[in-house]
Amino acid sequence: MLRAWGIPERILSRAPESPWGFPAELFRNRAEAAVAAEATPSARRALEALPEGGTVLDVGAGAGAASLPLAGRATLLVGVDPSGEMLDSFRDAAERAGVGFRSERGTWPEAAPSVSSADVVVCHHVVYNVPDLPPFVRALGDHAGRRVVVEMTERHPLAWMEDLWERFWDLRRPHGPTADDTLAVLREEGLEAGREDWVAPASGGGFERREDAIGFIRRRLCLPAERDDEVAEALGDRLAPRTGLWSVNPGGGRNVTLWWDRS
Ligand SMILES: C[S@@+](CC[C@H](N)C(=O)[O-])C[C@H]1O[C@@H](n2cnc3c(N)ncnc32)[C@H](O)[C@@H]1O
Repeated sequence: MLRAWGIPERILSRAPESPWGFPAELFRNRAEAAVAAEATPSARRALEALPEGGTVLDVGAGAGAASLPLAGRATLLVGVDPSGEMLDSFRDAAERAGVGFRSERGTWPEAAPSVSSADVVVCHHVVYNVPDLPPFVRALGDHAGRRVVVEMTERHPLAWMEDLWERFWDLRRPHGPTADDTLAVLREEGLEAGREDWVAPASGGGFERREDAIGFIRRRLCLPAERDDEVAEALGDRLAPRTGLWSVNPGGGRNVTLWWDRS
């Protein structure tokens, strides 16, 4: 199902810039918003299992939005991510929060053997990047002294762009996979995971400048900068400043928290 999200060569070959990747700004702002916000269901599930002074491993950490809200209870946050820029932002935020920090630059599960276990393992908004989930989730569990908490959107995070692909490239996008598929994989692995569905408040981060938000979506759509106005028009009022930051993927999306305990 993830393979079906690939961009056809006829479109990719005309992309002036890579449509993949995330600007660090997006996730830095997201992490700052996460620290300021009330505890989400994912943070609550992690805190239930995290002892005072415990350790947290954040896989696909980005700038640390999953684990920074746990900094008040933890002594050490460990971030794993292939992006050095993201990990630098995470380190700065951990310093500001006064919590110990370590990082491992790499992808999971390949990087897992060089990473120590932690009381709680968190992994937010990464599984849609992972085509082979069983070894990924097994390695999460192997590194958790107490609990693993996975957060994801109910549908693929690019599903909301369906009409844009149709409009600009006459391309229909797939509908799966969804959080149900992840849960099915966990069950196949013999993991009894809990599930909580919730709606994210509209404070999930974004861009300081409107044109950067548009440029991000335009690159995703494999279009040149001259098409920015058309992209903005197609986005309509989905592009809006929310809590001071421009975002096009409103925080009102449906999130799913999945968690399981070390047996
Ligand atoms: C959508 S961001 C989410 C970041 C952060 N967890 C959050 O919730 O804000 C996905 C992150 O996962 C990282 N990533 C993607 N695939 C990964 C993998 N196989 N192992 C580790 N990190 C991965 C990316 O570099 C990116 O920083």
